Amino acid sequence: MVRVGIVGATGAVGTEILRVLEARNFPLAELHLYASERSVGKQLSFRGSHIPIEPLTEHSFENLDIALFSAGSDITKKWRSAAEKGGCIMIDNSSAFRMETGVPLVIPEINGEDLRGHHGVIAVPNCSTIIMLMAVAPLRTFGKIKRIVVSTYQAVSGAGALAIRELENETYNYLANKGLCVSSQENTDSVFPHPIAFNLFCHNTAINEAGYNGEEWKMIQETKKILHDEDIQVAATCVRVPIFRVHSESVNIEFDGSISGWSRPSVEDIRAALSAFDGVDVVDDRIRNHFPMPNEATGRYDVLVGHIRHDVSNPNAIDLFACGDQLLKGAALDAVQIAECLIQRGIL
Ligand code: A2P
Repeated sequence: MVRVGIVGATGAVGTEILRVLEARNFPLAELHLYASERSVGKQLSFRGSHIPIEPLTEHSFENLDIALFSAGSDITKKWRSAAEKGGCIMIDNSSAFRMETGVPLVIPEINGEDLRGHHGVIAVPNCSTIIMLMAVAPLRTFGKIKRIVVSTYQAVSGAGALAIRELENETYNYLANKGLCVSSQENTDSVFPHPIAFNLFCHNTAINEAGYNGEEWKMIQETKKILHDEDIQVAATCVRVPIFRVHSESVNIEFDGSISGWSRPSVEDIRAALSAFDGVDVVDDRIRNHFPMPNEATGRYDVLVGHIRHDVSNPNAIDLFACGDQLLKGAALDAVQIAECLIQRGIL
């Protein structure tokens, strides 16, 4: 039984963490909920009781074994040393420490063993990276993966609870104004830099010197760390779409065909390998043109994978389409699975 705190408990991911802990019957000795000062006084329901939101202090961590952080990079950075001093393991959903040496970046089904090397901080990978790698990692059984080309269709909830409201309001305004789209830019409080209702745009993270947005760069870098493969090449295009929940991804996977004796696996073998992998559900019905869709992936723990086919333009490559609930497997569920792994493997 462990003492757990959720930092950012009122947010889009924090509320999902609460539900996942409840649904998975997580062995809790105590549960403490933290959010900003604005939320102190509120209560959230859990296992039939109401748990108050507490203010976070330097001493909060002394009474916790694990703190699940989901309040953004600044908050995580601010409280890291207090958590370390308190002897509390930080499992962080932000990008603050993901690429730091010594911080395991973990998708339990893929690299749970990396948890053994932790020094108090463990990072949950970027949501798009998790969803992509859940579809890619099972295919390593067919040979060395040389290159991945991915395009994402990302839901607004990845940008937090306020972004969900923004899509709702813009959609309502768009319809009420008979088609006149109200620009988010006119509203200084808006989360997104462009209208999201009936629109889509390059992921709302800063563009780096190489011309990639932050999300794309995370997918490129984090993949190498999670798969322990500095040579794997990733080309990513990340796009925000007017969907409330679930990130979808079109993924092209190229194997290293230069290895002698290598031959491309059949579609049937690929389906079988994906089906056998924990956390993946194959949805691949060509007759009905039924493949992964956000509405069917919403609320699911599994990543849905389908539209599996040989790439006709490259004899070493395959194509597939994946949909994953980015608030769950892309964030809350992965964090809780990491905590479960720590307990099951006696690493706590
Ligand atoms: P609050 O609801 O009180 O603002 P989201 O990712 O959905 O935007 O949620 C962010 C989460 O981070 C919310 O739970 C938010 O609480 C929380 N948060 C924001 N600022 C702080 C802070 N200074 N200390 C702790 N939690 C914070």
